[in-house]
Amino acid sequence: MFTCIIVGAGHRAVGYAVACPDRMKVVGVADPSPVRRKITAKRFGLEPSACFESAEALAVQPKLADFIINGTMDHQSVLVDFEDGCTATLNMVDGCSKPSRSMHLIGTRGEMQGCLEESKFTIRKIDPRPGHEYAEEIVDLNVGGDMTGAHGGHGGGDGRLVSDFLDYIGGQQPSLSTTSIEDSVAGHLIGFCADRSLVESRIININMKMQLAAIAEREF
Ligand SMILES: NC(=O)c1ccc[n+]([C@@H]2O[C@H](COP(=O)([O-])OP(=O)(O)OC[C@H]3O[C@@H](n4cnc5c(N)ncnc54)[C@H](O)[C@@H]3O)[C@@H](O)[C@H]2O)c1
Repeated sequence: MFTCIIVGAGHRAVGYAVACPDRMKVVGVADPSPVRRKITAKRFGLEPSACFESAEALAVQPKLADFIINGTMDHQSVLVDFEDGCTATLNMVDGCSKPSRSMHLIGTRGEMQGCLEESKFTIRKIDPRPGHEYAEEIVDLNVGGDMTGAHGGHGGGDGRLVSDFLDYIGGQQPSLSTTSIEDSVAGHLIGFCADRSLVESRIININMKMQLAAIAEREF
């Protein structure tokens, strides 16, 4: 049984926390909201000594659990220019009227565009015949239930994500969808550098190979 601490005890983090109750146990919470701390403490039977007013207050404690669930709010736009010439744009907007996660991948020979809530994606290829411009195929994955995450787990994705994570840290074979630790570190570095770019009003260069090599040398 793994132990975890919720940082940001909102809809998302609590949803993850209850996804695999037979494999993980919540042993603490950190949230600036007294209401959220109280509700979470009651729900998971936590003592006041396991409830913290901030992530910083939790961070100065000795290790209290195997991992944390980060459910704090975010809102940002990030532009990334990769070494191989690819470019990417991420827009994360909280508190919008209609929850939506959409992705548009554009390559030299075609593109893919999809929206999680519709459970569909479209594959398009250039069609050079006069009057055609492009050909497209719509793929319907037929996933139903709560897709927005407002009352459930994103069409079952949340539960599978938690289960994959527990498999990973338990040394079992996780599913194909699991992000490797190297990719996860790279993604986090991009997020931290985007924050620095905002504060310092400048482009931040990341030498990802050097960063990953430095991390690989560390012992955890
Ligand atoms: N709700 C969804 O379906 C959904 C889906 C995908 C992603 N997300 C993302 O997940 C994150 C959480 O979403 P949510 O719906 O659970 O939000 P929420 O508002 O229900 O919960 C966020 C919690 O974080 C706490 N918090 C804020 N700053 C904090 C800090 N510095 N330290 C500790 N706690 C802090 C708040 O008090 C609040 O209790 C957001 O970034 C959101 O965009 C949410």
